Amino acid sequence: MQNNIHSMMLGTGVAIPEKILTNLDLEKIVDTNDEWIRERTGIKVRHVADDKLQNSDLASEAARNALADARMNAEDIDTIIVATVTGDVTFPSTACYVQQKIGAVKAAAFDIQATCSGFLFALSIADGFIASGKSKNTLIVGSELLTRIVDWKDRSTCVLFGDAAGAAVISSANGDGRGVLGTFIKTDGSLGHLLWMPGGGTRFPADVAVSENLNNIKMEGPEVFKAAVTAMGDAATHILDKTGLTPDDIKLLIPHQANTRIINATAKRLKLPEEKVYVNIQEYGNTSAASIPVALHEAKGRGLLEPGDACLMVAFGGGFTWGSAIVRV
Ligand code: ACO
Repeated sequence: MQNNIHSMMLGTGVAIPEKILTNLDLEKIVDTNDEWIRERTGIKVRHVADDKLQNSDLASEAARNALADARMNAEDIDTIIVATVTGDVTFPSTACYVQQKIGAVKAAAFDIQATCSGFLFALSIADGFIASGKSKNTLIVGSELLTRIVDWKDRSTCVLFGDAAGAAVISSANGDGRGVLGTFIKTDGSLGHLLWMPGGGTRFPADVAVSENLNNIKMEGPEVFKAAVTAMGDAATHILDKTGLTPDDIKLLIPHQANTRIINATAKRLKLPEEKVYVNIQEYGNTSAASIPVALHEAKGRGLLEPGDACLMVAFGGGFTWGSAIVRV
């Protein structure tokens, strides 16, 4: 197995906006209540970025923290991948702004867009770049300002999302057995209409999007829920099979934080006890591409993952996209 490990995670970092929006705050905005939100989703509060903050500001802060954790300088990074659906502008990519803001002058930088699975797609690309010799040190960032694209009149979606960024430095493996043991990514583009933001692209340009209220997240919640439960369970079992590990070998499951009921269903399918499943949705809501790196960084900080422990990550999001990865941290 060790010979198949090409890359390792050298450091992680996060950036979380200070301002908090509670369920009680939301009761004043839409027809909802704290009990419904907690029982149906697990969310208690979410963080909201100040108006002036750009996605790339948050992404850059997370990136700097990950570099410090990895004891590396920005000049050491040769590739930057930012996973986001809420970039600063349509183009250039948010990764270009991050490159400039952190001073990663030797890096090629680009965004990827795989909704809530974005961080695992970025990890898969980084691992492949390193395996092929195209990169030695890749910075991957999941960063979202989702509160900028929710419809604050739609109670079925506006209560779910929050803002955050998480980053990781992925570098060539050093042969000590730690690293990315496997990644798996998958897409079903036929179901994109169940979770999307129609406006702002070329189909519904900005002026049309605003006049027709298409400039925000549209979601068929129950349909997405069912698909997420199946896909996350499948993705988790697939990567366990691919790496030759069993749930007993996993120290911690870090699922995308969209709904505690989806997380519980995934854990149940793997027969993982509660203490092996990391849940922080109560503090952040769904932060899409940022949710896994934020949870991963927290779990490490709380001593739930020690060097060499196997961490299983699994995600599902709009597209539909889904994926999984096992990393010996
Ligand atoms: N407060 C109070 N009542 C509400 C609220 C709210 N915020 N939202 C909906 N309701 C009501 C509905 O109107 C409905 O009322 P009715 O029975 O009178 O018609 C009732 O609650 C049940 O609504 P459902 O939508 O069936 O509720 P459900 O139990 O499915 O929960 C939820 C909705 C939380 C959205 C769930 O479906 C879900 O988590 N879906 C998956 C989300 C997800 O995983 N997204 C993927 C990633 S996101 C990304 O990629 C960007």
